[in-house]
Amino acid sequence: MELSNGVRYQAFAPLRNSINAVYRTVISIGTSTIVATKRTSPLIVVAASTLGLGAIFFRRWVSKKRAENKVVFCKCKSRLNDKVVVITGATSGIGYQVALMSAQQQATVIFGARDPENGRAIAEQIRRKSSNRRVHCLYLDLTDFQSCKRFCDKVREMEPVIDFLVNNAGVLNQTPARTKDGFEKTWQTNFLSCIIITENLLGSVGVGVSEHAGIIFVSSATRLMVNPSDVANVEQMRDVPEITTFEEGIGHYALTKMALWMYAAYTAYSRKNRKDIFVASVDPGSVWTGLFRDSWKDLSGLYTRLMCMLCLRTPAEGAQTIMHCMNCPKIRNGVLLKDCQEIGFLPEDAIELSPEFVSKSYKLISKYLPADCKAVDEIKISPDLSFEESPENETKVTCY
Ligand SMILES: NC(=O)c1ccc[n+]([C@@H]2O[C@H](COP(=O)([O-])OP(=O)(O)OC[C@H]3O[C@@H](n4cnc5c(N)ncnc54)[C@H](OP(=O)(O)O)[C@@H]3O)[C@@H](O)[C@H]2O)c1
Repeated sequence: MELSNGVRYQAFAPLRNSINAVYRTVISIGTSTIVATKRTSPLIVVAASTLGLGAIFFRRWVSKKRAENKVVFCKCKSRLNDKVVVITGATSGIGYQVALMSAQQQATVIFGARDPENGRAIAEQIRRKSSNRRVHCLYLDLTDFQSCKRFCDKVREMEPVIDFLVNNAGVLNQTPARTKDGFEKTWQTNFLSCIIITENLLGSVGVGVSEHAGIIFVSSATRLMVNPSDVANVEQMRDVPEITTFEEGIGHYALTKMALWMYAAYTAYSRKNRKDIFVASVDPGSVWTGLFRDSWKDLSGLYTRLMCMLCLRTPAEGAQTIMHCMNCPKIRNGVLLKDCQEIGFLPEDAIELSPEFVSKSYKLISKYLPADCKAVDEIKISPDLSFEESPENETKVTCY
């Protein structure tokens, strides 16, 4: 049987990733050896080679030892043939891989990019790599509400039915600043703009070519660093805090991810009469991507960067659970997933706070929301949403 590009890509992903890692390391050892032999003593050559080899073995050791690095690959057999995938933040990292894998599975991909030239180049690159011409880039700047609204209008013009909306774009540790809309940049990018995009496209997300459609929010484990009550005061989204350390930056980012998780769950549990789609949050794990471009920038951070580069997941690995949500026909509405498995749903206190929190958030951006977008007073987890006693110990991944 002839395998599609997507099947081949997924099946050989672990092997290809290992080969790539070894290949990259060998190239860097070779290059440093050549440079070193020309300019310096054999001692440096030995040191460079030892470092390179050390890096390979360290990466392997970490992969074996650390649970975080035990990446689960989606093995679902269903493909995205002719489905429509809309994704934010596909110009780099996890989002790029999701766009590429979706295109390789012959989906129509529409993604947003704030730099049109870069966006066009990325779209062309994905078309070339996937042999799929249905990859489109639209202008989208999440720090500009008007741009989010226009992005949604254009998407609706292009595709009346969207199978999957992936709210992926996000920033971490950027110097806090106020946008022209009057909100702090990280809050607007990671949270408020996601609401605008979701609410404006919600009506278009539905059953297209098959009976599996939904909305995916890219969450983060950092949401657990804060409490749902920490985000209750929505006015803080206008404040520009002083952030000087990485920890402060992560704390700020964590608030936006908690808010996003609450909104995602709210959307899942309050979608009156919408039984046809799922809404899920995904924790991709710790992934070495452009998200850290503004972290550990000085010389003292070099070691941390190197360690992260060696130990964290690759973007292709980080994209697996998002792909799983789109490929697996049995994703339950309102769940949080990691490593292609359900790991939980919104905690009790967040369920209580969500309606009021979302209602207040809607008011901040009401100008950009559809007229009928109103918050409900109460949300309830559906009775069938339950887990085994210890979902965190569950290692069985069900792929279809
Ligand atoms: N990496 C991790 O360890 C990790 C862990 C948990 C969750 N996540 C989440 O995963 C998602 C993807 O992040 P990543 O790790 O793949 O990082 P990344 O490589 O930096 O990708 C972020 C994407 O968001 C886009 N973006 C940022 N600001 C934007 C704006 N104002 N307008 C439009 N697009 C914008 C970026 O576009 P440009 O190319 O123009 O910058 C880029 O395409 C984020 O939501 C992040 O919070 C990541």
